[in-house]
Formats: sequence, C-alpha cells, structure tokens
Amino acid sequence: MLNLGVLASGRGSNFQSIIDEIESGKIRASIKLLITDKADAFAIERAKKHSIEYLYMNPRDFSTKDAYFVGITEEFRKSGVELVILAGFMRIVRQPLLDAFPNRIMNIHPALLPSFPGLHGQQQAFGYGAKISGCTVHFVDAGMDTGPVIIQAAVPVSPDDTEETLSQRILKLEHRIFPHAIRLYAEGKLHVEGRIVRIDGYNLKDDFLISPPIN
Ligand code: GRF
Repeated sequence: MLNLGVLASGRGSNFQSIIDEIESGKIRASIKLLITDKADAFAIERAKKHSIEYLYMNPRDFSTKDAYFVGITEEFRKSGVELVILAGFMRIVRQPLLDAFPNRIMNIHPALLPSFPGLHGQQQAFGYGAKISGCTVHFVDAGMDTGPVIIQAAVPVSPDDTEETLSQRILKLEHRIFPHAIRLYAEGKLHVEGRIVRIDGYNLKDDFLISPPIN
C-alpha cells in the first residue's frame, strides 16, 4: 500500500479524481495527509468528506520559502508519506522537499510540456493558436514544469472552442491520467533514467491525432 501526501491550493478536482480511484480499488494507495497553502481551498472540504487528514499551512508563518518547505517535509514524514502529489498547488517546490522526495513528487500540468509551462497552460495554448493541446503528468524538479514526463494526453483544439471549453476538455483528461500515473507508480512500473521515464508494459494503441482532421 502506497502512502500519498497531497499539496493543493484550490478546488481540488484532481485530488477528487485520485480519491475516487483509490476508493474504487483501482489504485492500491492511501492518502495520509492533504496540506493546503490556502485556508479556504475547496480541497479541504473534499478531505473532510472522505475522512482524510488535512492541514492548512500558512506560508506567512515561516521566515523563508525554504523554511515553509522544511515544515511541509516534516509533516509528510510524520505521516509516513512515500509519494507527494501536487494537485493544483500554486507554488514552486523548493529544495528541502525535493531533496526529501527525489523523483517522488508528481505534478499535473494543463498543456503538452515542454510547451506552455507556468500559469494558465490552457489559455497559453489557446492564445497561441495551437491545434492540439492536452495535459502532462511529470515528476517535479527544481524548474518550472521541467521534470521527467510520465504520461501525456492530447486533445484537438476546435475552431468553436473558447478558453473555457478547451480547459474543460483538458480537465477531463487530467482526471484520467493523473490517477493512472499514480497507479503505475504504485505498481512499481515507472523507472526514471535521466529525464526519460520508462514504463513497464507500455503498449502502443493509437499512433496519431490530426487536428484539423483530414476527412
Ligand atoms: C489544473 O488545471 C491542473 O492542471 C493545474 O491546476 C489546476 C488544478 O485544478 N496544475 P484542481 O484544483 O485539481 O481542480
């Protein structure tokens, strides 16, 4: 059984998708602790509903950014956390947490990295005029959305899309690939070699997506 620690800042819909897949028995893991950096993060309501321990940690209570992440590391260690999940956590992870969990922190980003890192990946892709976008689960390193890629999912951008409809289409896939990446990790199927993540049992199914389609 894999012990998870979750960091979130907001509504926590990805957090919910992970809770659901654990409860349905698809992932052999247990969420030991949710930590938020916002007192009113809706993720807290989800934790309450599912009897998951949670903690609001105010960054202002710590003298430096590093000290904040030392505090987070200590809480996760106390809870026996083995893998840290960033589920909409709106801060750059600092070295103390990275050192404590090397290649054991996962993030979801709403674009096909390395395109459109940083805030609002969906809007960036939309504004750029990309015809395909998607989402990426990756291990976290010291950069901004730069760590080894675990799994990606692509969606076409349709001419009728708005930023909102594109974001919704991407979010649906986030809710599928994030729990799946955690499942692969829990099953010991992910192997990091440099910045390449090798996955046991990978079977190619669909070999392209063209947008706009050629009819
Ligand atoms: C998602 O778009 C995710 O890709 C990004 O932050 C957002 C979090 O949404 N990292 P939620 O809090 O999981 O609903």
